[in-house]
Amino acid sequence: MKKAEKRKVVLIGTGMVGMSYAYAILNQNLCDELVLIDINKKKAEGEAMDLNHGVAFSGGNMEIYAGEYSDCRDADLIVLTAGLPQKERQSRLDLLKENRKIFESILHSVLQSGFCGIFLVATNPVDIMTRIVYEISGFSPEKVIGTGTALDTARLRYLLGEKFMIDPRNMHAYVMGEHGDSEFVPWSQAMMATKPIFDLCGETKGCHFQELLELEEEVRMAAYKIIEAKKATYYGIGMAMARITKAIFGNEYSVLTVSAYLQGEYGESGIYIGIPCVVNRMGIQRIVELPLGGEEKQRLHSSCEMLENTYQEI
Ligand code: 2OP
Repeated sequence: MKKAEKRKVVLIGTGMVGMSYAYAILNQNLCDELVLIDINKKKAEGEAMDLNHGVAFSGGNMEIYAGEYSDCRDADLIVLTAGLPQKERQSRLDLLKENRKIFESILHSVLQSGFCGIFLVATNPVDIMTRIVYEISGFSPEKVIGTGTALDTARLRYLLGEKFMIDPRNMHAYVMGEHGDSEFVPWSQAMMATKPIFDLCGETKGCHFQELLELEEEVRMAAYKIIEAKKATYYGIGMAMARITKAIFGNEYSVLTVSAYLQGEYGESGIYIGIPCVVNRMGIQRIVELPLGGEEKQRLHSSCEMLENTYQEI
């Protein structure tokens, strides 16, 4: 019988985001081997020890250890969370210059190992950091994925589920664009099960479109609110990363709004941005082109422009 393929993940960065991800994939048994790398080796060792003491409760037998960059060689997935975290009232784009320097050093060591798997980037500003990984690594774009607006889409679906008393998994609505202030919801494409969300709004239906716009703004501001309250966000993004990992290792062909490289789709090129993509074992199998309305196309274009201008400033 063919031996099951060993699913090996290397997590670079054992801060709260990285460890929330590690805790999520341990509890969901999403890989067979998890290597923790951090500039603070002692921290990585402590995190590995702490997780290992939970393996007996996980229903699985994940091998977890603090490792070196040489351990990247045969990894299937490298998850990048290293970098400075967003501070109160700090935009993700302000983080950029510092985190770029950190990535240049990390990628040099990763590429030296001979790694040839998939990159999953979570460090903010994630769309630009993912583009940096793509450009430095020289990997084909489908193997360089950012968390994009996967978390924002989950936030939107949670809020829509609360509003319409429906399981969020049956709310088919997406957040697109920059994972940040210029993200938006293409409401023309939003469905509750098989019913367009627009059909649920109207004078006689007890829900006004303005209320949806307020939900959209609540999603856009969510991170700032959480950071103001508890200094950082990590559980939501950690679980979004686990969801993307599950789609990859499960060869799921699931549609997730990850940060992907546009090469003409939506009339945009040369940019990483959050869009609906089919994700499978090879990474991004294809980009889903939604029939956006005129104003929605303009919002996506503005978001692309903002990211490009910022990238050029680095
Ligand atoms: C978030 O949206 C900070 O990007 C992180 O929660």
